[in-house]
Amino acid sequence: MLGALDPDLGDAGVGALAGLVEVLAGGGDGEDLLSVLGNAQVNGQKLTELQLFHNGWLYIIGGLETTRNAISGGLLALIEHPEERIRLLKDPALMPTAIEEILRWTSPITHIARVATRDTELARTKIKEGDRVALWIPSANRDESVFDDSYRFDIARSPNEHIAFGKGEHFCAGAHLARLELRLMLADLLSRIEHIELAGKVERLRSNLIAGIKHMPVRFSQTRAAA
Ligand code: HEM
Repeated sequence: MLGALDPDLGDAGVGALAGLVEVLAGGGDGEDLLSVLGNAQVNGQKLTELQLFHNGWLYIIGGLETTRNAISGGLLALIEHPEERIRLLKDPALMPTAIEEILRWTSPITHIARVATRDTELARTKIKEGDRVALWIPSANRDESVFDDSYRFDIARSPNEHIAFGKGEHFCAGAHLARLELRLMLADLLSRIEHIELAGKVERLRSNLIAGIKHMPVRFSQTRAAA
């Protein structure tokens, strides 16, 4: 669905979206999140089908595309910086800072947009009330005035005030879950891999919202314990 701009995926995405509208607008009758949303009442009113769709869609984009691309993008960063992969293997206590660096480096959501509620000025640019403003997260996450040597992938980077999860009122609702998924996945993967390298071209998703990886062929050897 998020590949609508990508010629390889565009048509499939339209079909998937139609199917999703049906599933989400119907709600559910279990204890899962979509059922909770479907049965929730705000001021005595249930959410409309459109609201159910938008909320469910947000969880699907937020919950799936972001984390899985952080995982594949993180693995790519560790392949391209083998010394950092070895460093992490030797010192697993670096995992928390490594995850923050992977989030900064991959910035899986590439932009968020806002509409200005009043005239203002940002970095010497005048913004008028009603203007649409796009914040490009990968760019902010490489801001030289915030990050030392911002183009260096450093799994021990500290401080690391990245904004991969946004900022303020709409800060990512799934940030803790995403960090947990990344930690479990990377710890498990890395402990099984002796050596890993790219075995072909990395193909990226054509999208202005998701920094996605479509194909990433790798060649690897397992550790003796995993084999
Ligand atoms: C690496 C993984 C993730 C990244 C990079 C990410 C990124 C973001 C960003 C940048 C925003 C702010 C959007 C804005 O300000 O307009 C956001 C919001 C949100 N995220 Fe995530 N996210 C991730 C994982 C997740 C997961 C796992 C979930 C849920 C299962 C989730 C659910 C949400 C929701 C519901 C919001 C909206 C919060 C609100 O508007 O108050 N995200 N996320």
